[in-house]
Amino acid sequence: MSFRVQPAAPARPNRCQLFGPGSRTELFEKMAKSAADVINLDLEDSVAPSDKDVARKNIIQATHDVDWGNKYLSVRINGLDTEHWYKDVVDVLENASDRLDQIMIPMVGCAEDIYAVEALVAAVEKAKGRKKPVSFEVIIETAAGIAHVEEIAASSPRMQAISLGYADFAASMGMQTTGIGGTQENYYMLRDGEKHFTNPWHWAQAKIVAACRTHGVLPVDGPFGDFSDDEAFVAQARRSATLGMVGKWAIHPKQVKLSNEVFSPSVEAIAEAREILAEMEKANAAGMGAVTYKGKLIDQASMKQAEVIVRQAELVANI
Ligand code: COA
Ligand code: MG
Repeated sequence: MSFRVQPAAPARPNRCQLFGPGSRTELFEKMAKSAADVINLDLEDSVAPSDKDVARKNIIQATHDVDWGNKYLSVRINGLDTEHWYKDVVDVLENASDRLDQIMIPMVGCAEDIYAVEALVAAVEKAKGRKKPVSFEVIIETAAGIAHVEEIAASSPRMQAISLGYADFAASMGMQTTGIGGTQENYYMLRDGEKHFTNPWHWAQAKIVAACRTHGVLPVDGPFGDFSDDEAFVAQARRSATLGMVGKWAIHPKQVKLSNEVFSPSVEAIAEAREILAEMEKANAAGMGAVTYKGKLIDQASMKQAEVIVRQAELVANI
């Protein structure tokens, strides 16, 4: 371990983030009753330009009227290259109830983007005497965003989560695909004439995870567009969980259960993690640093791996 200790990410469940357009008020109660840990009310791409003002009003009203239970409540603002974002921040923060937890900033390209939003947020919070400072989550969905992801992760103490936004990311990178996440037809290795599909998103995911883990931020997997294909959603989510991401977006309510299942450690995994910890404690007490467990090596690092799973299980158990 470096002398600089890796900070812990916020200790709250973030297995699934359910999105809904701010213009579709009939969805709000359904979102509140869902099993998602995080709710993202959207002002950006799922809202038509002509509906931005009314969507803002709807969302403000919903922070007062809807019972959001113990969900983490986030509003996605428009990108900093638009004429909408300053109103999103000012109107929402001036008028939303203290139930609002977070602002999601899309299309972030550099740490200065966060600085600009934070300056505005801090001024409104001060002017209005808001008691609870809002936290930030960010979407990495451009070439600049992924190139600067580490400085973005480190940009503010308000930073809590970073997601990978597949569609805009693919467009910004000039990728030849219209798919939103998942397997891509033309991304394969050939062996003996047979195609083996690999993961074109792997590098960006792993880079986000590393930046997040370095700076105590939650790494989250973004949307999976084909919501009629549950199996493909689960496959993508399992890859992300294996890489260290803590959760995934749902762009349709049917994806919530799938995501919660993948990002909650299984009973077997929890039992094994506890067993590894117990075995290692016994080993350490007997002066052994490394021992055999089920025919495999376990050592001090295995304890840290097992602790990750036990911590996740405890978070989920406390919901
Ligand atoms: N949250 C909660 N409930 C939702 C929902 C959402 N995001 N989307 C749909 N529902 C509800 C519907 O109201 C319907 O409820 P009912 O059974 O009580 O009638 C049920 O789930 C089935 O909905 P369905 O008819 O399959 O979907 P739809 O055609 O109404 O909407 C989408 C489909 C994709 C347009 C919609 O889910 C949506 O807007 N998703 C979020 C998009 C978004 O926010 N994108 C930005 C991030 S990428
Ligand atoms: Mg986007």
